[in-house]
Amino acid sequence: MSFPNLRLRRLRKSGKIRELLEEVRLSPKDLICPIFVQEDLKSRAQGESMPGFDRLPLKDVVDEVNSIADLKIPAIMVFGIPTTKDDQGTSAFSQNGIVQKAISDIRKNLGNKIAIMSDVCLCQYTSSGHCGLVKGDKIDNDSSLDVLAKVAISQAQAGADVVSPSAMMDGQVKLIRQRLDDAGFTDIAIMSHSAKHRSSLYSPFKDMAHSAPKFGDRKTYQLPYTNPKEAMREIETDIAEGVDIVMIKPALAYLDLIAMTRQKFNVPISAYSVSGEYALVKAAAMQGWINEIEVTMEILTAIKRAGADMIVSYLSKIAAKTING
Ligand code: PBG
Ligand code: ZN
Repeated sequence: MSFPNLRLRRLRKSGKIRELLEEVRLSPKDLICPIFVQEDLKSRAQGESMPGFDRLPLKDVVDEVNSIADLKIPAIMVFGIPTTKDDQGTSAFSQNGIVQKAISDIRKNLGNKIAIMSDVCLCQYTSSGHCGLVKGDKIDNDSSLDVLAKVAISQAQAGADVVSPSAMMDGQVKLIRQRLDDAGFTDIAIMSHSAKHRSSLYSPFKDMAHSAPKFGDRKTYQLPYTNPKEAMREIETDIAEGVDIVMIKPALAYLDLIAMTRQKFNVPISAYSVSGEYALVKAAAMQGWINEIEVTMEILTAIKRAGADMIVSYLSKIAAKTING
């Protein structure tokens, strides 16, 4: 085959032609913005390892979420930081819990202006800092499931649209689906952290959310980053358990898994660009070593190009502002 006078640069010669040829376009509508709500906090507090990203007191949540919605971002992901922790993670499923209060305030004040997703896990709420209940020196799978289901139901009762289990307990999607249905919440969707890896890119989050484990690490439940086939099995299992949206986490160093999932499964895919990815961009930008906005657009577009339908990112507001102009 010959290529008569082929010059690929013809289609790169001006801004307008390049615009026309764009294959992947990031939209604010692809984004989910996390928020951290902290119980008994008096005013917005900057995270030391996440400069520019604040923890919020309950009274500021509605305004903040409203401003996120005004940027045309269709969803938030709510994380809570409670004042009390215990060995059962009770504050995670209390109807007066910080997340439950935040969700119902948002729903009451903003109606359906933005979709409310909420994190279903125990690590901010257990004295151990683990994502499940501790028995002896182990994280016990099956007793944790029951508590996770309670968390999901309490969030659905508060008004969440989508619950997002992130504990990496086996069977969490199945039991949460069952309990939601039994309680009449058949239209509440589950976005599971299906392929959540044990990653050192989570440490800024653990500072922010006070959720570092008090002993050991999360290697007995989160995926090792060496095992792509095992990651695919996790995704397969969640689909079999009735998940609505699967998630791959982190995002930037895991684009191969996003692409593989896109090829293998016909299911909505979210990617979680985690706190450490945010910190890398921010730190370099603050030094003046990279352009924060350009790098943000490049990274989030690449995650979409790999096959993600939606991206949870702390850079969501920066990207949305840039795209909206
Ligand atoms: C815990 C949880 C973590 C994150 C989200 N949920 C931390 C962990 O698993 O250690 C990390 C998110 C981020 O770094 O942005 N269930
Ligand atoms: Zn957890």
